[in-house]
Amino acid sequence: MALQTTPEVGGMGHSIKRKEDPRFIRGQGNYVDDIQLPGMLYLDIVRSPFAHAKIKKIDTEKALKIPGVLAVITGETLAKYNLHWMPTLMSDTQMVLPIEKVMYQAQEVAGVIATDRYTAADGVEAVEVEYDPLPVVVDPFKALEPGAPVLRTDKKDKKDNRIFHWEVGDRAGTEKAFAAAEIVVKQSLYLPRIHVASIETCGCVADFDRVKGRLTVYMTTQAPHAIRTVFALVAGHVGLSEEKIRIVSPDIGGGFGGKVPVYPGYVIAVAASVVIGKPVKWIEDRMENLQADSFARDYHITAELAARKDGTMTALRIKTLADHGYTDAAANPSKFPAGLFSICTGSYDLKHAFAEVDGVYTNKPPGGIAYRCSFRVTEAVHTIERMADVLAQELKMDPAELRLKNFIPAEKFPYKSALGWEYDSGNYAAALKKAMEKIGYADLRKEQAEKRKRGELMGIGISSFTESVGAGPSKHFDILGIKMFDSCEIRVHPTGKATARFGTKSQGQGHETTYAQIVAEELGIPAAHVEVEEGDTDTAPYGLGTYASRSTPVAGAAGAMAARKIREKAKKIAAHLLEVGEEDLVWEPGKFSGKGAPQKAKTIQDIAFAAYTNHPPGMEAGLEAVSYYDPPNLTFPFGSYICVVDIDRGTGEVKIRRFVAVDDCGNIINPMIVEGQIHGGLTMGMAPALMEEIQYDENGNIQGGSFMDYLLPTAMETPKWETEKTVTPSPHHPLGAKGVGESATVGAPPAIVNAVVDALAHLGVRHMDIPITPEKVWKILKEKGVAA
Ligand code: CDP
Repeated sequence: MALQTTPEVGGMGHSIKRKEDPRFIRGQGNYVDDIQLPGMLYLDIVRSPFAHAKIKKIDTEKALKIPGVLAVITGETLAKYNLHWMPTLMSDTQMVLPIEKVMYQAQEVAGVIATDRYTAADGVEAVEVEYDPLPVVVDPFKALEPGAPVLRTDKKDKKDNRIFHWEVGDRAGTEKAFAAAEIVVKQSLYLPRIHVASIETCGCVADFDRVKGRLTVYMTTQAPHAIRTVFALVAGHVGLSEEKIRIVSPDIGGGFGGKVPVYPGYVIAVAASVVIGKPVKWIEDRMENLQADSFARDYHITAELAARKDGTMTALRIKTLADHGYTDAAANPSKFPAGLFSICTGSYDLKHAFAEVDGVYTNKPPGGIAYRCSFRVTEAVHTIERMADVLAQELKMDPAELRLKNFIPAEKFPYKSALGWEYDSGNYAAALKKAMEKIGYADLRKEQAEKRKRGELMGIGISSFTESVGAGPSKHFDILGIKMFDSCEIRVHPTGKATARFGTKSQGQGHETTYAQIVAEELGIPAAHVEVEEGDTDTAPYGLGTYASRSTPVAGAAGAMAARKIREKAKKIAAHLLEVGEEDLVWEPGKFSGKGAPQKAKTIQDIAFAAYTNHPPGMEAGLEAVSYYDPPNLTFPFGSYICVVDIDRGTGEVKIRRFVAVDDCGNIINPMIVEGQIHGGLTMGMAPALMEEIQYDENGNIQGGSFMDYLLPTAMETPKWETEKTVTPSPHHPLGAKGVGESATVGAPPAIVNAVVDALAHLGVRHMDIPITPEKVWKILKEKGVAA
């Protein structure tokens, strides 16, 4: 896309420096834990050591004797206000605090309110809870067996542990295609539970003003407006009506989907503040964040791919068991219990597909959050990109050749997938060819063949993924009934500077910069003079928040549309000032001039001033607009990644030697920020591929409940990422942009797994589940007799 604005204006395509960084790199961000209010009290939480147990008694006496401990809140306390249960975003129910039994290890059991954080922790130690352990259900397959203990005894009619059964596609047509297939490959895959691990844990400061009857909650939420509505729905009956609630998300240190749900700690803090009449702060510690907050993935998948012998894919069939823990608290759009898993046909022109997913309750914390991914797209992409390689291996075909043969051709867009999505635009072959060229694919294959002769283990893995982001069109997408539009309100002030407010909330993605660039692009007001605000429900227009890479596709589009409304009014004012007809005006970024008279121009700054000082008779003063944007479709960013690994035969360690990522997110607002998003995303994709996993023992005890055992990548483990792009604009987005925030997290894991399997394929290895730890690899090497 050719640049429309000068670097000084800094519209689309300029790598201007992030406006938020001066405060972040000087340690001057304002996070929830920075907020100090007069008389503020502190909440700490008693948590269950058992994964499933009856609560016989909660003895608070000793805790209440500690000087500074003011109250201990239990399920019984909340039950008086009918606040001990709350709805989840998937219309399931979740305990705020239990009365009868606990359902997972680290579940909240009671809240201690004290005058300082340390006293609150002492109070937690002193609360005595008597439990009576119950049989624990950890394995989701066993949870569905007849005779398994029914976990949700609070649901009167519930006779088993199945949450939902969901299917999509043409079962009969797919079966027919499988029956006629020349070749069928089948593979089971497991994407384990992983933790979001944002730098900042969750927390809030709840501040109820008894005089005004008004509640302000500063909190780490990615979706402040939706949270306000949920609070009003949950606590309306105790007087918290929506106009009396203000949610403020200040600076947020990473969200990645983990800060979308409502956690019990928020509700306990609010209840305590309302009852006591003082501000109450709750900040999770790192282990609480790791052990008790919502998890991602935990999908057990069996996939089958049918094809012709020449490699043409003909049909895909997938069966999945989704472990949701003890409640379905996924942040999916209501209609999609398995999120956007049905994007699992990926980048391929598959005529037939059928997928089914069963959601299951187990004695684990709630799962199902979309960790840097658009509602299960990671699971879908992992499946199809692994299956493409399994098929290539079976056919002894090069995986790049197999992909190029099966890609949806560029001329077939917009493309209707077998599972019902309309892909907006794409050119998959161009992205893969670019990646192959950059990495030197043909030479690498030669090198690999030579190394194999010498017994060295080198692998090359490809992932050509398609994402579906920008939830979403209101005909399909809602959360708790609220349609998933998003919004922007722009006010141009008399001196030609602007304030733009959005319904989303950045957690580090750089919205203050890129949204300002959108306004700069559309109005010619320099991005430096566009102040972006998000996250305060008192000031920002209603929107559904930031997750699933929806900010650019939805709120970014709202920004462009609001700016265009302002430009329309500016045109009328310019016509008045220049004394010409509107039809005789020409717009170039930042000014209107008369046709054929470019020297007689009115800048947006002149026009803004006139809007308040000299507007045309009959026109309202001011220059502002609001847009609530309902996207006509999702956007479908894509990319091709190629990873080269070397495996140490002595230790089983996988070393990523090179990783080339070619991404396409349509027109780019800020190339530097997009590159940063991809670098971060690739690291977050490598992490589950090689390191991260949460496991439980048979009693539901979490294994690896601290960062001593749960491995996160650091700069030491992170290779040098090599990035490239192709640009295929979205035809329906006003700026031609698609989302990008998650592409790399989604696309990277299968490229890495495919590379490792490729390195071991000649030994008869066809699949490995993630994380591919040195131990797992070494065991295979030992078994195959090639360990050094
Ligand atoms: O919703 P979220 O902000 O996480 O994801 P996104 O919309 O993909 O945007 C991530 C960051 O990349 C934002 O600062 C976007 O404005 C920027 N971006 C961009 O500059 N150009 C694009 N085509 C897409 C995103």
